Order: sequence, then C-alpha cells, then structure tokens
Amino acid sequence: AAIPLVDGFGRVATDLRVSLTDRCNLRCTYCMPAQGLDWLPHAEVLTNEELIRLIRIAVENLGITSIRLTGGEPLLRPDLAQILAGIAALRPRPRIAMTSNGIGLARRAVELAELGLDRINVSLDTLDPETFKRLTRRRRLPDVLDGVEAAVAAGLAPVKINSVLMRGVNDHEAADLLEWAVRTGVELRFIEQMPLDAQHGWTRADMVTAAEIRRRLQERFVLTEDPADVIARGSAPAELFTVDGGPAKVGIIASVSKPFCGACDRVRLTSDGQLRNCLFAREESDLRAALRGGADDAELIRRWQLTMAGKRAGHGIDDPGFLQPDRPMSAIGG
Ligand code: GTP
Ligand code: 5AD
Ligand code: SF4
Repeated sequence: AAIPLVDGFGRVATDLRVSLTDRCNLRCTYCMPAQGLDWLPHAEVLTNEELIRLIRIAVENLGITSIRLTGGEPLLRPDLAQILAGIAALRPRPRIAMTSNGIGLARRAVELAELGLDRINVSLDTLDPETFKRLTRRRRLPDVLDGVEAAVAAGLAPVKINSVLMRGVNDHEAADLLEWAVRTGVELRFIEQMPLDAQHGWTRADMVTAAEIRRRLQERFVLTEDPADVIARGSAPAELFTVDGGPAKVGIIASVSKPFCGACDRVRLTSDGQLRNCLFAREESDLRAALRGGADDAELIRRWQLTMAGKRAGHGIDDPGFLQPDRPMSAIGG
C-alpha cells in the first residue's frame, strides 16, 4: 500500500515530473546560450530500466498518480517509446503528460498517444518566423505549428500551449497568440519568466507580469473569471480566464507575482537521477548513486520521503538572500 509523500507543511506530492534529457534542439534565449550547455555525459543519465524502476516505486509505494515527462526536450530521448510503455504498464496506471517544444511531434503524435501518452503541453512564444528565429535561434516555427496540429488530431487533449513573454521581443504578440489558440482549439497559458536561465540574466524589472499580460489581452478580448474554475483550480499553476464569454479559456501562470507554492503537489526527478523537492531546491538526493550502489526499494522509498520532508514553503524569489538554483531549468526539467 502507498504511503503518501507529505512534506512538513502538510502538502502531498502526487505529481512526479521526470526530465528525460537535459539536451534540446532549440536555444531559447531565456533558457540557454547559443552554444548550448555542457550536456550530461551519457553514463550519468538514467537508463530506461532505472527510470522505470524509480517511477514504479513512486506509483506503487508513494502515492504518485501523475507523471509528466519533460526535458530539455523529451522527444530527443531515443528510448522514449520504451519509457512511455513502461510507465503506462504500471498499476495503478498513472496519468501521463509531456511538456515539449513540439519539434518532431508532427511525426510522432499518433505513436505517442498509442503508447499511452494522455496529453501534451507545447511551448510556443511567437507566431512570427523572424521572432521565432530570434528567440529560439532556430528556424523551426513550421515544425512546431505542425506538431501542435498533429497533437490535437491525435487526441492528446487538452493540448496546452506555454508562452513566455519578453518585453520588446514578443510581448506585443499576446493577443495574436490568443486568437491563434482559440482558432486552433488549444488552451494557451502565459507564463511569468522565472530566474532559471543558465545565463543568470533574469531581473524582476524585465519580467512581463501577469497583470501586464492581462491588460494586453483585455485590449482585444473580454476576460472573465468563472467561479467554478477558481474553485476547481487546486494545485494547477494557471489561473483561468474565460475569453469573450467562452467556451475558450486562457491561463496565466503568475509563478513570481502570485506564487502557488502553498498548493504545490510536485516532486522532480532529473535525467541524471537526482530527486528535487522543488524547482528551486538547493539540495538534491542522489537516487542514481543509491540505485547503482545496490539500494533496495525500501532504501529508495526512505530517501524519497526524507527529501520531501525537507521541502521549503516556497520558491523564495522575493527573499533577500535568494539564490538561483545551480542547475538551469533545462537540466532540472520544466
Ligand atoms: P498542467 O497545467 O497540468 O498541464 O501542467 P503544468 O502547467 O504544471 O506543466 P508545464 O510543464 O506545462 O509547466 C508550465 C509552467 O508552469 C512552467 O513553465 C513553469 O513556469 C510553471 N511551473 C511548472 N512547475 C512549476 C513549479 O514546480 N513551480 C513553479 N513555481 N512553477 C512551475
Ligand atoms: N521561466 C518560466 N518558464 C520557463 N520556461 C523555460 N524557462 C523558463 C523560465 N525561466 C518554460 C518553457 C516551457 C516550460 C517547460 O518552461 O517555455 O514551456
Ligand atoms: Fe529547449 Fe525549452 Fe530551453 Fe527552449 S526553453 S531551449 S525549448 S529546453
């Protein structure tokens, strides 16, 4: 029987986010430098057997009910099919989601759905090919748009789109993005940028805030809050707004200006087998060393519970002594 993963504040983790690789085929300026990063050596990355063992323990023994595969870019993982099949075979069967940049998704959406992927979130910050090139340093906008369409067609629903707005780069496109999302039948969420870039260039003053995003959208749309969505929000990071009377909705993820850490239900595993109790955790628990050192399930369970017990109340971005995590978001998992 499962023993829930409770932290010192009474929060229960039920959502495990697993980074499958730290590599990526885009170079978003808010994420990594043009030359990429020092990727993890292959030997340090968990094999699919190791990954599935840890996920099995989480599902069977620790009350994890939903798995999100992230990266870097998770579609770059060569054995993704085996990993998906392995997770889908677990009982109780967890919900399986993915967060991807959408490149290569057009070819694979149907296969992923058949293997057990339930839904997908695709990152897309602009609809303008030149802005896309400037922002991601690659000319791949058509691949991403095709990927989104394929995901919708494959029934990976709801397909959600994540957009990070940057002042003077793509913030003027907020309403255009929403128009496109409504037309395409996907749920768009705008995200406040967090201090997780490899270059440590984030400043609070540069961040496009949730309030600003809302103002921009209201120049073209009427946004209203449905009380049912407020009640149903639970641990979801996005606050939902009904667009022009519905049925379309748009989300705003105000991670910085309105943190949702109090309702957090997440725990993270990096591709090199480090367990983190928070995106902003200062410490990691080395499950890879433990499992390669011969630890049995009971030992791994004990380590997992110990890690959760040390979870802090919040990300602390506004605290005077705030330190960005050593690893960038691409290595932690989005
Ligand atoms: P669903 O709403 O369930 O589809 O998932 P999600 O929004 O949690 O997943 P996704 O990977 O698409 O993340 C979207 C954004 O939410 C990320 O870009 C982050 O900005 C934010 N986010 C995700 N996880 C965390 C977290 O643990 N802490 C904080 N502060 N923000 C997070
Ligand atoms: N702050 C907020 N979101 C970010 N993402 C990448 N870097 C940041 C950041 N510093 C987003 C990506 C992707 C998701 C996994 O995280 O756009 O949608
Ligand atoms: Fe790749 Fe995502 Fe980072 Fe962009 S934000 S470079 S898509 S990991």
